[in-house]
Amino acid sequence: MEVSKVLITEHYLDKRITQLARQINEDYKGKDLTVIGILKGSIYFLTDLTRKLDLDVSLDFMRVSSYKGKKQTGEVKIKMDLENSIKGKNVLVVEDIIDTGLTLAKLFEYLKIKEPESLKLCVLLDKYECRTEEGIEPDYVGFRIPNKFVIGYGMDVDEKYRNLPTVNCFVDENEDTEKDVEGIRKQLVRK
Ligand code: IMP
Ligand code: MG
Repeated sequence: MEVSKVLITEHYLDKRITQLARQINEDYKGKDLTVIGILKGSIYFLTDLTRKLDLDVSLDFMRVSSYKGKKQTGEVKIKMDLENSIKGKNVLVVEDIIDTGLTLAKLFEYLKIKEPESLKLCVLLDKYECRTEEGIEPDYVGFRIPNKFVIGYGMDVDEKYRNLPTVNCFVDENEDTEKDVEGIRKQLVRK
C-alpha cells in the first residue's frame, strides 16, 4: 500500500527559502522585480519567498496545465494569462516543481515573446533525473529531489493535499525514505 511520508520538513523549507531569498536579493539589488507565480502549485512557496525579498516586487499570476492526476498529458494549456505587460521588466517565474521541463519550456517560449528585460526561473523542487526538455534550466533551485511523486506545500494529486505544511512523497509503506531525507538535509548551505 502507498503511504505519504514527509520528505521536507517545515524547518528545512524555511531555512532553504531564506537562503534563496538572500541570493535573489543580492542578484536583483537596486532593481524592480516582477514575480510571476504559476498557479496553483507555487502559492505557498511564492508567499513565503516573496515575504523575504527586500526589493520592489510586483506580483502577477498565470495558470497553465499539463497534468491530469499523476500522468502528464503532453499538452500545455494557458488557462489564465498575465494581467500586466512584462515588456522591459525583470521577471522571475516562481514554480513549485520542474520535472520533464515541458511546462516551463513552453511557458518560457511564450513569455520571451513579451520582451522582458530579463527572464529567470526559480523552482522549489527539481526532479532533475526526469528532464527531457533541453534549454530550460532553473536559475534558482530549492531542493533537487529523486524521481518520486510529491505532494503538499502547494502540490497536489487531483487538487488534494496542497495545504500540507510539509513536502511529502507517496511511497510503498515498507520503503525507507531516510536516505532521501538525508539527501535533502545535505543540500542546505551551512552558513
Ligand atoms: P513538467 O512539465 O514535467 O516539468 O511538469 C511540471 C508540472 O507538473 C509542475 O508544475 C507540477 O504541477 C506537476 N508535477 C510534476 N511532478 C509533480 C509531483 O511530483 N507532484 C505534483 N505535481 C507534479
Ligand atoms: Mg505546477
